[in-house]
Amino acid sequence: MPLIIEKTLKGQRALVTGGSSGIGAAVARALAEAGTRVAINYLSDAEDAQKLVDEIQAGGGEAFAVQADVSREEEVKLMFELAIKRWGSLDILIANAGIQLDSAFTEMTLAQWDKVLAVNLTGQFLCAREAVKEFLRRGLIPELSSAMGKIICMSSVHDIIPWAGHVNYAASKGAVLMFMKSLAQEVAHQRIRVNAISPGAIRTPINRSAWETPEAERELLKLIPYERIGEPMDIGHAAVWLASDASDYVIGTTLYVDGGMTLYPGFREGG
Ligand code: BGC
Repeated sequence: MPLIIEKTLKGQRALVTGGSSGIGAAVARALAEAGTRVAINYLSDAEDAQKLVDEIQAGGGEAFAVQADVSREEEVKLMFELAIKRWGSLDILIANAGIQLDSAFTEMTLAQWDKVLAVNLTGQFLCAREAVKEFLRRGLIPELSSAMGKIICMSSVHDIIPWAGHVNYAASKGAVLMFMKSLAQEVAHQRIRVNAISPGAIRTPINRSAWETPEAERELLKLIPYERIGEPMDIGHAAVWLASDASDYVIGTTLYVDGGMTLYPGFREGG
């Protein structure tokens, strides 16, 4: 049985930030499979972004790659202008770009703190602001979707699980939780749906060291009740659902796609 309901998002136009690798690339693939035209944003890996564009086009989809640093206002504005000029408008924003710069707390530099907040939080603000402006300019197209636009903020289980050694990252994701909910509350009456996905441990380059060796994998699995590491497409499927009218009444929600990581696995035996 195909996992993606045939062309549920046909005719819609999406922008995926940080779309050239990891979770972003899987979401771009899944959206394309569901019939969306996809703008794939990347920061520096133009080659990977283009490969993904080629792959989507070879499968009969439509895509293009667009470079921008999501933490820079002018670059974000230009990226939205380009995408909107190309396709007339945008219907879906996947605010996915995110980084980790890990450090023990007393060694964490201001630069590491600022950079993570700039990409993971300010980046979501800048992109969501352009998306909301465009949704309001364009108005509702009932044949395309019951909502005027959909924003999915890529968060993390670390929006609620504290994470020693990653204080900047966890702080940025905790902030994304309230950013998402406050924005959702502000724009819901305009028929704009804002939600978040909080992935657990998904097999991507960002956490390679956590699954690369059998020992690391064994340790990681202790934190996952479902006893498997997530695959990028687990998030791709969730994003398609959250962007589609199948979830039309879902507003300001965080969908934890984490194999149960947020269920305090230690308490299965303890407590
Ligand atoms: C982090 C990964 C980590 C996962 C679960 C994600 O948000 O980016 O490095 O493996 O959370 O801890």
